[in-house]
Amino acid sequence: MTSLRLGVNIDHVATIRNARGAPYPDPLRAGMLAAKAGADGITAHLREDRRHISDDDIDKLARELKVPLNLEMAATEEMLAIALRHKPHAVCLVPEKREERTTEGGIDAAGQHNHLKPFVRRLSDAGIRVSMFVDPDARQIEASQSLGAPVVELCTGAYCEAVIAGDERAVAGHLDAARKSAAAAAWLGLEVHAGHGLTYDNVKPIAAIPEIRELNIGHFLVGEAIFVGLEAAIRRMRELMDEARQ
Ligand code: PXP
Repeated sequence: MTSLRLGVNIDHVATIRNARGAPYPDPLRAGMLAAKAGADGITAHLREDRRHISDDDIDKLARELKVPLNLEMAATEEMLAIALRHKPHAVCLVPEKREERTTEGGIDAAGQHNHLKPFVRRLSDAGIRVSMFVDPDARQIEASQSLGAPVVELCTGAYCEAVIAGDERAVAGHLDAARKSAAAAAWLGLEVHAGHGLTYDNVKPIAAIPEIRELNIGHFLVGEAIFVGLEAAIRRMRELMDEARQ
């Protein structure tokens, strides 16, 4: 089976920092430590309201990380200008609502085709690899391809919520959708990523989907780091991903 990369999302290191307005803990330090522990890339979401990652964080991450930076952002002119200034390895386009606690699902690549098209083109023209964060849904995957994005990231949020609720039927349904979507996306020539809500308990069935090339995981790892440290948390996640892949 192809190898599976781990992108570590460090947003919530900034959440802890911002809870007190202190200069620590530093997301760049977390990103560097994550890379040392085996992360293949670092993901950070610069939100319109700057609730966690700041402009200064993006500046430092873009300049100093030795592994690829995946910038998650909404498709707005402000974010586009920031991405074009820093030229991260990748940009993942996500939907954003001010009142949401976290990203609640995938972007409407099909319904917002005309709005998204120039963003995908301008980012791609700058040499940035564009990924569309979509629900595991054939229509959204086809729309992502027709937008010209080379990557789709399948949202695993609903699957993870079904695992927490102990709803086995829903879990099976979400996994089936993730498997079919990953196969359809790969067949269309798209690189497939997945993420949102993944933990030690729910990662394996997703990691076992052969077409998936990268998982992006953050909130759980930063929480687990409180107990075992960030490096150990990442190493354990890596082990589980590798076991699922065998
Ligand atoms: N992928 C995308 C597109 C996301 O928006 C997020 C959350 O910011 C993640 C992955 C990581 O999710 P989590 O923090 O729940 O692991």
